[in-house]
Amino acid sequence: MIHEACDNTSKIPSTIWRTTDIITILVSLITTFGILLKFDWRILIILISLIIPNLFLSIRTSNLRWILFEWSTPTGREASYYKYSLLGGGRQIQEIKVSNFVTYIVNKFEQLSNKIIRMQEKIAVKEAINRILLSLIENLLIIIVIIMLVKPLSLGIITVGSFTFLFTISMRFSGSTLNLSENLNNFYETALFLSPLYKLLNFKPKIKEDKQPLEFPSKIKRGIVFKNVSFKYPGSKRYILKNFNLEIKPKESIAIVGENGSGKTTLIKLLTRLYDPTSGEILIDGINLKRFSLKSLYENIGVIFQDFFRFEGLIHENIALSQVSNIKNISHVHKSAQMAEAWEFIKNLKMKYKTHLGRSFKKTGEILSVGQWQKIALARTFFKDAQILCLDEPTASIDAKAEYEIFKKFKKFTTGKITILISHRFSTVTMANKIIVIENGKIIEEGSHSELMRKKENMLKCICSKLKGIYLELKPPKSKLS
Ligand SMILES: Nc1ncnc2c1ncn2[C@@H]1O[C@H](COP(=O)(O)OP(=O)(O)OP(=O)(O)O)[C@@H](O)[C@H]1O
Ligand SMILES: [Mg+2]
Repeated sequence: MIHEACDNTSKIPSTIWRTTDIITILVSLITTFGILLKFDWRILIILISLIIPNLFLSIRTSNLRWILFEWSTPTGREASYYKYSLLGGGRQIQEIKVSNFVTYIVNKFEQLSNKIIRMQEKIAVKEAINRILLSLIENLLIIIVIIMLVKPLSLGIITVGSFTFLFTISMRFSGSTLNLSENLNNFYETALFLSPLYKLLNFKPKIKEDKQPLEFPSKIKRGIVFKNVSFKYPGSKRYILKNFNLEIKPKESIAIVGENGSGKTTLIKLLTRLYDPTSGEILIDGINLKRFSLKSLYENIGVIFQDFFRFEGLIHENIALSQVSNIKNISHVHKSAQMAEAWEFIKNLKMKYKTHLGRSFKKTGEILSVGQWQKIALARTFFKDAQILCLDEPTASIDAKAEYEIFKKFKKFTTGKITILISHRFSTVTMANKIIVIENGKIIEEGSHSELMRKKENMLKCICSKLKGIYLELKPPKSKLS
């Protein structure tokens, strides 16, 4: 919808100057109307009737253009996707090249492009037929008018001069009539093509703010409670979470582990109100999350998502994005980068924090490795001084040494905060006060690391069978954290 809405905004200015055009046409019509009415009202009727087929055929043409636009927008987007997969550089081209499916993608692009061209040709033919029809009708009516003028000329009722004058006036009148119908149709076409924009402007977000929103607690005293939360994504019938209950105390850090697709990221999406629970509630200090203003909620939650935003801009900007109001605080940027071990590679870059990342529009942009990007994203989360920290796979691509260094500082940074850590990495989950294991949106095991170690026997059995050996042992490697 956003694509369609933005594609046609250029039609708005033309509508404005067309309004002034209509005024000029109306003035011309009124003056010629008076003269023709005085001479022969039937000529007037014939010329005015021209507006009907003209409007009908122009509206038909506009509808055809709209059909082409509606049809070609998603198809064109698909074709662009293939094109940019090949031309866009980036990470995907490596795989496309090495796995040798360039021709496959090129063929897909070609097929779609041909489909679009064929559709455009079809519409162009229909448009041409409409134009020919219109021109035929127009010429036919002009011939009728000439016949109607020739008769009084031959009978000597009018002179050759009057004939020329009346003929010119008739042509002017028919020209204005055509112009008027063209302009009226333009309003119709603009309204048609701007309908996605109106839809977008009238779009009501599903996440609604409370009419009298509360400010988020300045200091969380009772913690976060997921109370009988059930959730299914919009348009889906499958419940991702079913009667999910979880309590997170103030200053507590919990680790969530579970198989792919078990609903870990969904929990963060609910806590950050990207979605609201289908039923049940999430409480902060006993107050439903929905009662807080979105602004104050976002100010108090720092998140690093699995698919975090790789912003093609300066490193400095990339880190400060989580709290743009504090973007000028260079020392805080530096502190956050140090905490995330990002400084270790930034210090080797010539422009340090002023290094541009990515090459989409800057040839000299720096290309970072996946792990280096993850350190930037982690620094971004640290930059935001939030009470709740949600880290979804924060160190999945970070090397063991850097991860260990991050963990050493992590405790200090997260003191006093609620931290929710999602990870498949063993070393990461051991940082938390409490580990919860979820399966199919339900908690199947929970406890502190030591508690789980105590019931290791049971836990190992449970985890090994349920998680198919993902977490083989709940003991951190000695060399690291002991
Ligand atoms: N926007 C969405 N619309 C519909 N279904 C979704 C959407 N996002 C996720 N899902 C589905 O919800 C389920 C849980 O997804 P979620 O991302 O929470 O899993 P996860 O536990 O974080 O997995 P992973 O370990 O792979 O990150 C998955 O089956 C997924 O297909
Ligand atoms: Mg996930």
